[in-house]
Amino acid sequence: MDNISIDYSKFPSHVGIIMDGNGRWAIKNNKDRNYGHLKGAETAEKVIEWSKNFGIKYLTLYTFSEENWKRPKEEIEFLFDLLVRYFESNYVKMTQNGVKVRFLGRINKLPPKVSQACLKTEQMTQEANNINLIMAMNYSGRQEIVDAVNKIIKEGKKEITIKDIEKNLYLPDVPYPDLIIRTAGEKRLSNFLLWESAYSEFYFTDVLWPDFTYEEYLLSLLDYSKRERRFGGIPIHNPNDGVTPFE
Ligand code: IPE
Ligand code: IPE
Ligand code: MG
Repeated sequence: MDNISIDYSKFPSHVGIIMDGNGRWAIKNNKDRNYGHLKGAETAEKVIEWSKNFGIKYLTLYTFSEENWKRPKEEIEFLFDLLVRYFESNYVKMTQNGVKVRFLGRINKLPPKVSQACLKTEQMTQEANNINLIMAMNYSGRQEIVDAVNKIIKEGKKEITIKDIEKNLYLPDVPYPDLIIRTAGEKRLSNFLLWESAYSEFYFTDVLWPDFTYEEYLLSLLDYSKRERRFGGIPIHNPNDGVTPFE
């Protein structure tokens, strides 16, 4: 992998990751689910750093879905404690590393300790400018669209446009994800970025999130860089390539 030449200009600008498989990793390694989450958090930390080094400008990590409230209370509390502890001990490091953190989701519906830690992290890292790290927390893609529509209704509109919804998403300034990666073999969105993923590319791997490596990440980015995104149009004709299959 070391001696391949990489065209970083073809890498995605925004990567979204559905970090899945912590529980299965724990079972496989004879540990409890919470230990799987601990290992998963370590992977996330490495992925943030790798993303920055790959020149990725936006990284969205699906951290907790609104549907994850269906899990046992102990698991949810462990996940929240893990996040709060992680943020509290990493504000300074993240700022130094240029990681600007933002949250996507109904943060105000989280327990006060968690929502306060989220707000503080946003505030502490707001000047950082190497990479935008977006943590999808208490997030639901359907709810995001419903919230957008409700905001528009309150403005008094009777009929809405695509632009209206775009302007009222949780983070309207963030470009849509170019690539969405899901680990652990599942091939579904699980309510992640429903509106935003309309033209995203997808990469699925069987690797469980705690086992996700630099090589696996690089493979997904290289795979993406070979794809042709057409957005409903036709391929761009390159005179040196001869006739393209869609002409
Ligand atoms: C992803 O791992 C982490 C969260 C959803 C918070 P899971 O906990 O979903 O792991 P599996 O799917 O049970 O293996
Ligand atoms: C999606 O994973 C949510 C996160 C990664 C935070 P889940 O494990 O909750 O998804 P399902 O239940 O398998 O669809
Ligand atoms: Mg899962």
